[in-house]
Amino acid sequence: MVVKNVCCIGAGYVGGPTCSVIAWKCPDIRVHVVDKSEMRIKQWNSDKLPIYEPGLEDVVRECRGRNLFFSNNIETAIKDADLIFISVNTPTKTYGIGKGRAADLKHIEMCARKIAEVAEGDKIVVEKSTVPVRAAESITHILSANTKPGVSFQILSNPEFLAEGTAIENLLNPDRVLIGGEESEAGAAAVAELTWIYNHWVPSEKIITLSTWSSELSKLASNAFLAQRVSSINAISALCEATGADVTQVASAVGQDSRIGSKFLTASVGFGGSCFQKDLLNLVYIAECVNLPEVAMYWQQVTDMNVYQRTRFAKRIVECLFNTVTDKTLAVFGFAFKKNTGDTRESPAIYVCSHLLEEGARLNIYDPKVERSQIEYDLTSAAVTNEPERIKKLVQIFDDPYEVVKDAHAIVVLTEWDEFKTYDFKKMHEVMKKPAFVFDGRKILDHEALIKLGFHTETIGKRF
Ligand code: NAD
Ligand code: UGA
Repeated sequence: MVVKNVCCIGAGYVGGPTCSVIAWKCPDIRVHVVDKSEMRIKQWNSDKLPIYEPGLEDVVRECRGRNLFFSNNIETAIKDADLIFISVNTPTKTYGIGKGRAADLKHIEMCARKIAEVAEGDKIVVEKSTVPVRAAESITHILSANTKPGVSFQILSNPEFLAEGTAIENLLNPDRVLIGGEESEAGAAAVAELTWIYNHWVPSEKIITLSTWSSELSKLASNAFLAQRVSSINAISALCEATGADVTQVASAVGQDSRIGSKFLTASVGFGGSCFQKDLLNLVYIAECVNLPEVAMYWQQVTDMNVYQRTRFAKRIVECLFNTVTDKTLAVFGFAFKKNTGDTRESPAIYVCSHLLEEGARLNIYDPKVERSQIEYDLTSAAVTNEPERIKKLVQIFDDPYEVVKDAHAIVVLTEWDEFKTYDFKKMHEVMKKPAFVFDGRKILDHEALIKLGFHTETIGKRF
């Protein structure tokens, strides 16, 4: 078989950009991205894509309608495809066994059942979503229990490592591509088909073939290691604040050891995003399930440290503002979980803002890419507050950063957007209440300059 038709179930942050790049780099393949959400598909077919990702628009514009299609026709897309990516969400379970920790695989299972129901001929099914180890086994069970004559399936694991904000760059130049498959002739043939697709732009030495279980676990382990680095430097940042050391200097000194490396050592208000916390909790749950409590506790500490870091930052704001923020206006710069994305899933901003709202602060919020309705939803959702009406009264969302700071007591930086560094802070200082404070949770501003302008300046991992 030579793959001519690819289907991707799930047109989200992973399915959309990944398949756009496949369509771009493989003009000989027809790529059909499907989703159950009509709204999402409508947006993918419009001028305003459902996600903001640098470079994505250009790729979509070039391929859409040529060999890249977005639709809700899930059954047709499955039938036509030689290879099907499952790229649906796998959130933390909010109910039943494993609640709050295990990955919820209901969407994956629904995809497997739909594929079993409508597939004709031979299909390669690729797990793109992040899943617990041995999830492929469940997919295999469902597919083989429902197989019809003349239909055969091969299941592969091909986890995704893109980071939001740099998705296109990461997809075009991946550090590695993992392909896990069954150790059999048919398994090897399926691995070869997927390898052939990636070989359109990824050199062979970067494509690693491994067992399905190793591939699944490597994804969880990679995210756990990355999150652990952030929690490690954040733990050191607390020590810096207590001892007079500067975490930027420490990170630079530590990172120059080539065995440690310099990336992912930026202390911050904490990590966010849809995956680190979810995947860590999933790893913890798996370790508990296989009776390895010490392993579970080790990784649990990485997420505990993250909660500590964002809470510590929120408490420090209250403490510096003379132990009360009630009825004080705070200008919040940034709500996304990192720069260059409009995504707010698990953003530390949600937690810091909620803490400040609990304390009675009024928040003026500005983010260049996050939709107003998203901020409102995040701060009033049931998981965050049981007083949505009170919160609505305390929060105002602005489109202009200079409006946000008017009569504010403090600026609180929660996302590292580059544009924040370019603002005229002298002008801002003039319209703020005095003493005017800056709390830089991302360490991006010129602190010496702010102090000269008269700002009381606080940041992570350093005392002035
Ligand atoms: P997402 O929520 O943005 O997108 C998932 C999409 O799947 C949604 O649009 C949803 O409507 C659709 N969907 C769910 N069930 C469906 C079904 N039965 N049929 C059709 N469509 C269905 O999620 P995401 O951020 O793209 O993440 C997808 C997976 O990739 C997750 O497992 C995640 O852990 C993993 N991952 C995410 C990232 C990231 O940066 N977001 C990076 C690497 C891996
Ligand atoms: C992360 C991984 O980097 C990807 O490889 C992975 O594919 C993805 O999760 C996933 O599985 O979903 P992402 O969450 O998009 O990607 O973004 P990161 O760049 O990893 O940042 C995560 C969080 O950590 C952000 O809130 C960021 O601000 C924070 N961070 C990152 C720091 O606080 N310090 C750092 O040094 C690096």
